[in-house]
Amino acid sequence: MSIKDLRTFLNDYENEFPDDVIHIEAPIRCKYEISAIAIAFEKKSKFPLLIFHKPVNAKEETSKFPVITNLLASRTKLAYAIGSTFDDLSIDWIQKAENEGKQPVTVQHSESSCKEVIYKGDEVDLMDIPFLTHHELDAGPYISAGHFVSYDPDSRVDNVGVYRGFVSDTREIRVWFEPRAHAKINMTKNESLGKDTPCAFWIGHHPAVPMGCYVRPPYPKSHYFPAGGTLGDQLRLVSSETLGSDFMVPADAEFVIEGFLKAGVRKSEAPFGEYTGYYGPERENPVMEVTCITHRNDAYWHSHMVGHNTVFSATAQEAALYSSVRKVVPNVKRILIPPAAKQFMVYIQLEKTMEGQAKSAIMAALTSALWVKYAVVVDSDIDIRDDREVLWAIASRTRAERDIYIIPDMAIAGLDPSGYDLGAARLGTKVGIDASKPLDLKFPEKIDIPAEVKKKIRLEDFLSKDKIESVPNFLTG
Ligand SMILES: Cc1cc2nc3c(=O)[nH]c(=O)nc-3n(C[C@H](O)[C@H](O)[C@H](O)COP(=O)(O)O)c2cc1C
Repeated sequence: MSIKDLRTFLNDYENEFPDDVIHIEAPIRCKYEISAIAIAFEKKSKFPLLIFHKPVNAKEETSKFPVITNLLASRTKLAYAIGSTFDDLSIDWIQKAENEGKQPVTVQHSESSCKEVIYKGDEVDLMDIPFLTHHELDAGPYISAGHFVSYDPDSRVDNVGVYRGFVSDTREIRVWFEPRAHAKINMTKNESLGKDTPCAFWIGHHPAVPMGCYVRPPYPKSHYFPAGGTLGDQLRLVSSETLGSDFMVPADAEFVIEGFLKAGVRKSEAPFGEYTGYYGPERENPVMEVTCITHRNDAYWHSHMVGHNTVFSATAQEAALYSSVRKVVPNVKRILIPPAAKQFMVYIQLEKTMEGQAKSAIMAALTSALWVKYAVVVDSDIDIRDDREVLWAIASRTRAERDIYIIPDMAIAGLDPSGYDLGAARLGTKVGIDASKPLDLKFPEKIDIPAEVKKKIRLEDFLSKDKIESVPNFLTG
């Protein structure tokens, strides 16, 4: 079995898309400066895979660990990771994870690259790792692409979720769990018995592994099993150093950070710049005491540009949304969570045949995804990859009093800044916008040129690639 890991992906991806991988060789601080480079690309609507070879860590030392970001930041990268395409990505992703899962295989410590370097107890100094401080008001350096493993103490089934970690000391990480997070269930079960929760963050793997782990199987079901489906191979696991021989971590990860959530201990965590585009609030949150770090030689440290790119989590949800909408409206064509709206919105493209279908689709979408607050239905002549077309459809095809539905007091995402808390729940208002053409009105035709002319007349046949590229984009700059 050939091993698939972060390095095989980087190598293959760079061979296939050399222009989408940027190496920065100059020293650059992990505090804000790496974010500044990623944000400068984002302003140009570009999300290249960025590798920083000389990151300067919190101790103001040049770290030996290169930093990678934007690894999962485009549909093209995600599609490449699992052998899919831009358009079919979400459906292939869920199909592989749910129907082609594979039992993981256990390997020896000697065969596990994540054990090449091991620090235990007092040897551990988290500050050697080039954690990013992403934004100005962040509480400090954060783990942002950490896959947090914990086990259900009853069934001994693994749970893997992406949870942020505030690195508050040389051996301490503070974490935040949403009320519905499965890791929180594991912690609560342990705490009810007065026990600490064994846990580990693993960081850096072939993108197919995070993709498989992220489909959120029902509790308590293994996340390592669907990861085998997206990876196309059994995931190689190895036992932990300090959490017991049945606590398993991916053998080919770049880093593994082991420790315990201390029972009943809570300390202040955040603010942290969140996916919403706002800072998440400071709260009293669980605390992990680190017992061990293992890593590969010359390990890569992986970080997400949280708040700047939500393609990974948004695409993971699209297939689930597609399946909910399809149950009530079989003629749904495509679904897209537009990156600009940071998961608060979904576009639904319908081949409408009957009135009522748009509203049914809207209701299905708004009730099946907690974080989606706006559902917009458009006809199949609207390209939902292009926000401008969707805005045009809303602006030109809706009659607000008839086509916009406002539904107050629905369950929404825990970090939604527009909501309010009621007990453990966060509630807020959701909106449906039916921007499809009414079937009973003779709507004017969309302007266009003949398809054969579009195909025949191509800019590249009249102008050089450089000339086309050098024309300024006055929409974005
Ligand atoms: C980059 C990133 C960061 C995230 N950070 C958190 C977090 O700090 N806390 C949280 O509860 N969920 C966070 N999430 C969402 C969870 O990972 C997601 O809901 C996951 O399905 C939880 O899995 P589980 O409930 O099976 O543990 C994050 C997701 C991503 C992609």
